[in-house]
Amino acid sequence: MLGQRGPTTGTSLFMSTNIESSVPAPMADWVTMDHLVADPESAAERLLRESPIAFVPFIGGLLISSYHGIQEMMNDPAKHTVVNSDGGTTDRAVGPSLMRREGEQHVRQRKQIMPSLRPSAVERGWNKVFSRNAQKRLRELVEAGPGANLDRVFARPFAADNLAAIVGLPNLTHEDVVRWSHAMTAGSANIFDDAAVWVTSDAANVELDAIIDGAIPYVRDHPDESMLSAMLRADDQLPVEAIRANVKLAISGGVNEPQHMVVNGVWAFTKYAVDAADADAATFARAFDEVARLFPPISMIGKRSRTEGYDLDGVWIPGDTTLVTFLLAANRDPEQYDRPTEFDIDRERKGIMSFGSGPHVCAGSNVAKAAVAGVAWPHLYAALPGLRAIDPHVVAPTGWVFRSLPALPVTWDRVVLPED
Ligand code: HEM
Repeated sequence: MLGQRGPTTGTSLFMSTNIESSVPAPMADWVTMDHLVADPESAAERLLRESPIAFVPFIGGLLISSYHGIQEMMNDPAKHTVVNSDGGTTDRAVGPSLMRREGEQHVRQRKQIMPSLRPSAVERGWNKVFSRNAQKRLRELVEAGPGANLDRVFARPFAADNLAAIVGLPNLTHEDVVRWSHAMTAGSANIFDDAAVWVTSDAANVELDAIIDGAIPYVRDHPDESMLSAMLRADDQLPVEAIRANVKLAISGGVNEPQHMVVNGVWAFTKYAVDAADADAATFARAFDEVARLFPPISMIGKRSRTEGYDLDGVWIPGDTTLVTFLLAANRDPEQYDRPTEFDIDRERKGIMSFGSGPHVCAGSNVAKAAVAGVAWPHLYAALPGLRAIDPHVVAPTGWVFRSLPALPVTWDRVVLPED
């Protein structure tokens, strides 16, 4: 099948190939940022059909859309690098975190945070924390009444409170967590070096470094399930800059996505008439995969090829080139899924690209699934029978890298809150 779908011919900036069978990536200059914001689904469909690996001028590099191509590239460290693949913005935004490290350095750092993100940590600690946070925000949603914006009243503070606990700074307010998260995310994305963006991102670093440093002595003396505690317990403890950086990386990357998944789910269940009121744990878990597949909160992520070029699915990948993986497209690849554009929570289980793939695959996918599918949705649908988006056909996710619904007004038929 893969052999049948090749790149179309076209002008390319990458005309030299070393491997006889490779062809240069065709140009897809019809792909613009506006197109990817407004209708990435149609761009994905055309790219998958015509040029699953294409040169896109506004990106200044290759856009890889096929599931197979992305998987091949991301799982082979010889085929890509993450070091400075963003021009160094993430290291400036959060410090020397695991996200921009490779090989042994990456493995060492990742191993140190993983005890706080494994299913066993969820079982032992986080489920209870997530449930408490959900109950608190549910009451506020009920107080706000029908018509409330699920995103701002429930999903955002719920996700921020969870993240504060996971990293080991449970006393932070959700407003501060969100403010810092947005400031550092903007810093990570600041490839055009906007000075104003660095002012807020750098300020977030100063504030957070002081808070992390202040928390370290207490957390060292009172070990728990948190990321900070896990890193402080490690035999080969990381330098404090890396400890801080990994906490800040989790704050910058671990709030928005679970927040948007909570909202995307309620929107999709309404739009596609899924009877979530009667869903059991297994159904919510399947639904999570399907919501993440069709409506991934992160649409694309960037890597860079190493200095050597290579062949990928018949296309020549030149050395030292920007490689953008179009995760949303890979999740709709007809060579990976039957009826790829249909929302079907009962579909055959197959891998999805929403969390990336390979050594840098999302470290927080277990906790995100536990928080959203294991706690948020079950609590929402149990407490608010008839919960639904008011206008599911009017709103849709937007954004080209991070995609989310700007707001989701919801209503319900009655309220069944458990006694305190
Ligand atoms: C639905 C929610 C989430 C989605 C869709 C998501 C998605 C992603 C994606 C696409 C990547 C990049 C993978 C790559 O470069 O190959 C990533 C990396 C990462 N995510 Fe998540 N994420 C989510 C939740 C979380 C949470 C809750 C946390 C922390 C508690 C987290 C921590 C991380 C970390 C630490 C990395 C870097 C991993 C590494 O470089 O080794 N994520 N995530």
